[in-house]
Parts: sequence; C-alpha cells; structure tokens
Amino acid sequence: MRLIIEPDYEQLSQWAANYVASSIRKARPSDAKPFVLGLPTGSSPLGMYRNLIGLYQQGKLSFRHVITFNMDEYVGLPQDHPESYHSFMWNNFFSHIDIPRENVHILNGNAPDPEQECAAYEAAMKAVGGIDLFLGGIGPDGHIAFNEPGSSLASRTRVKTLTADTIIANSRFFGNDVNKVPGTAVTVGVGTVLDAREVLILVNGHNKARALREAVEGAVSQMWTITALQLHPKGIIVADEAACAELKVGTYRYFKDIEKEHLSPESLLA
Ligand code: GLP
Repeated sequence: MRLIIEPDYEQLSQWAANYVASSIRKARPSDAKPFVLGLPTGSSPLGMYRNLIGLYQQGKLSFRHVITFNMDEYVGLPQDHPESYHSFMWNNFFSHIDIPRENVHILNGNAPDPEQECAAYEAAMKAVGGIDLFLGGIGPDGHIAFNEPGSSLASRTRVKTLTADTIIANSRFFGNDVNKVPGTAVTVGVGTVLDAREVLILVNGHNKARALREAVEGAVSQMWTITALQLHPKGIIVADEAACAELKVGTYRYFKDIEKEHLSPESLLA
C-alpha cells in the first residue's frame, strides 16, 4: 500500500484530482472503452471534486467517456432531498462537468426491492468491465463506504444498518438532529471495492488519525474495514499532516522518504 502525505487539505485534494486526471488521460478512454470510476460522497472528496471541475474548465480533462458508480446512498431519503447522495453528487460534481447523464450510476435508496437493486448494481459494474479506479473516504471508525465495523471484508453491495457513531457524525448535515439521519443505507461492499483495479482513499483531519493508524499499521480486521486495503495490490492512501498524528514517527518518515518524488501534485500532470 502507498501512503502519500501532503501538508494540508488543499494539497491533498489537488494531488488526488491530478492522480485521477492522469489516470483518465493515460487510459485514453473512448466510447468502446470507457474509464470507470467509483466515487464517494462526504466532506473529504469535496476539494478533489473542485479541482477536477477546475481541470475540466481549463480544458485539461473530459469526462465524456467516463462512467461512474457511487459507493452508497441513504435508504428512504427522497432522491431530491438536499442531503441525499444523489443531490450531493449533482450539486458538487456532475452538474459542472461534461459527463453524459446516462454514465452516472448511484444506488436507489428508495428501490421497492433493495436486494434486487443491489444485485443489479453489481451486475452493472461487471457489464462495463469493472471499476478502474475506486475513490473513497473513511469514517472516524475506519469504515469505507457504509461498511461499518463488523462488516464482512468479502461483502458485496447490500443494505447496511448505520452505527450510532456514523449517525452522530453525519447529523452535522441534518441540522445536528440524529433523528433526521436515516438509520440504513445501501452500500457497495468491501469486496466490491477490492475488486477495483486500483483504490485511492482520501484521509484528512485530526479526527481521522486513529483510523489512519489502523489502516496503515494495524492488522486486517473487520472492525476497521479500511484495513482491507492492505490486501489490495494497488491501494493508495493520500493523507494530510493532521491525519498522521497517530502514526509512529518511523512509519511517517518511511513513507515520506519512499514517496518523496511523488509528493508534488504538479508532478502527476507534468
Ligand atoms: C459517510 C460515507 C463514507 C465517508 C464517510 C466520511 O459515512 N458513507 O463514504 O467516507 O462518511 O465522511 P467525511 O468525508 O465527511 O468525513
């Protein structure tokens, strides 16, 4: 696993956006061979989305041949609710780039048959040849997508009950009212994320420091589902300094040293 440590959130976001842009460009996607991205919501990826929009506006990147699959969605929230992940993605990203509407996939949290919805989602990913690059964030308890502690590391797309921790953390988007946060979600599984050809996880802020420590130094465990990234042949975490507060000095120095040539966001798009 690679760990890229950037000074702050701004540079982390720029690094991640440039990594995504260079991956898309290198693949030279076309109608016949689109590039398939897995996408997260949350505050962690907001800066990356802003930078990607900037690259599109400067004419340096197009999403015409990009297909996306979002990680998760709340169950029971109307699609046009301001806090649905549908709203989040269109407001913060899709409305500002040239992606064709039909290339966007987001789980339907109001599907009459959620199991069927989840199975169809997995089938849709397979039908386009799988995910090339899965982007993600993590919760303070180390969850990836909505794979809460105790989720099987082999899990696939399904309905999950949210933990009290996640409901409290996400209540900031619902007027700090925990009763307004949906108690369940549909989410890709840990196994679904691991199937991607590459996985890039964004970790910023002091409140993620324990989760980052487990992800990098901890043992693979269902209690910190991000640790499954250790089993992926091409896993990358990009973190800011604040998130590194719980890493051993030796771990920190080791990754700073081996990644020193890759630390500038500009080096990726050169
Ligand atoms: C939610 C999402 C996760 C996200 C996490 C962290 O639980 N389902 O995909 O990584 O929140 O969110 P944030 O980036 O806002 O800290």
